[in-house]
Amino acid sequence: MLNYRDELDKMPSYDGVEKNYRVKVNANECTLNLPPLVEERVMNRLSHAAFNRYPNEEYYSLVEQIAKNFAVDDAQILLGGGSSEIIEKVFHAFGGNGRRVVFPQPSFSMYKIYAKAAESEGVPFDLDANFNLDVDAFIDKVHEVGASLAVVCNPNNPTGNALTPAQVEKIAASLDCAFLLDEAYVEFYGRSAVNLVAKHPNLLVARTFSKAYGLAGARVGYMVAQAAVTRMVNKTFMPYHLNTLSLATADIVYQMRDEFVPRIQMIVAERNRMSERLAKLSGVEVFPSETNFILFRTERAAELKDFLESLDIGIRYFAPNSFGLKNCLRVSIGTRVENDEVFNAIKSFTETR
Ligand SMILES: Cc1ncc(COP(=O)(O)O)c(C=O)c1O
Repeated sequence: MLNYRDELDKMPSYDGVEKNYRVKVNANECTLNLPPLVEERVMNRLSHAAFNRYPNEEYYSLVEQIAKNFAVDDAQILLGGGSSEIIEKVFHAFGGNGRRVVFPQPSFSMYKIYAKAAESEGVPFDLDANFNLDVDAFIDKVHEVGASLAVVCNPNNPTGNALTPAQVEKIAASLDCAFLLDEAYVEFYGRSAVNLVAKHPNLLVARTFSKAYGLAGARVGYMVAQAAVTRMVNKTFMPYHLNTLSLATADIVYQMRDEFVPRIQMIVAERNRMSERLAKLSGVEVFPSETNFILFRTERAAELKDFLESLDIGIRYFAPNSFGLKNCLRVSIGTRVENDEVFNAIKSFTETR
């Protein structure tokens, strides 16, 4: 019999189910591939990639660009294989046996898994019935359990709502422990807390190229924190953990990030349009969103998910035991045509069944 590491069989698995739907609005991806101008530049750049060399130059070129954009030192930036790798490594840097990590629930389902992987104890803190975070009570909880790490996703996945920068700053200022802010969807909100890093040595901000910049397939994310913090977190990474192709792609995408502004605006406008239309359907409760997705509640959510699946439309359904998410569904924003198709399908379900 194979002798696996203790407790590995008890490790929860990521609960997202991936399937290639005709209309795929289940994973908060960007529905559009790269803008043609960007794609052309990426392909050109990849055609002279140095496959024989370890990816030093590409790594530091991207670091330099990001640092310049935020007016911080290069030493304040760490890159990762998606923000997933950044978050996982931060849990490793501050977790460990007997340590506690506090994060709100419902939130990104991976936090509890990273806590377990880092052999630390995940301590969920309940959002209220409208998915708002009681900031003072959250701070108290972090103190009460003596956590070494607090994690907040802002705007929050899967609920879509956001804390204000003042609320984020209050948390950073009130905690002694590390505070990881996961800003995977912040481009759709527009109120990042990266500028607070200079003032708060405990603040680590994780960002990603996967959502607004449509690079989920390249797996690139980054972290901004004070240099002393990135130096320590960096110890948890393997050397050359990002590959040349992904780094060179992200480098071009970042150089050309202005090309993404119109589509970010389109997604925000479509999200608002879709939220308004869904809210008018009888028996549908829509939660406010600052992201590229919408969470809504409706009775018979499981049946609606099956109905949409029968039309080859994939949206995210949450198991009845997911905290606070009973009868909730999450739909990512697609193109206007896709959104109309999804909306019409939901409308016909609510009207006829
Ligand atoms: C809140 C949040 N954080 C982090 C991630 C990880 O994204 P990636 O690893 O693609 O950057 C996701 C992905 O869905 C997410 O929803």
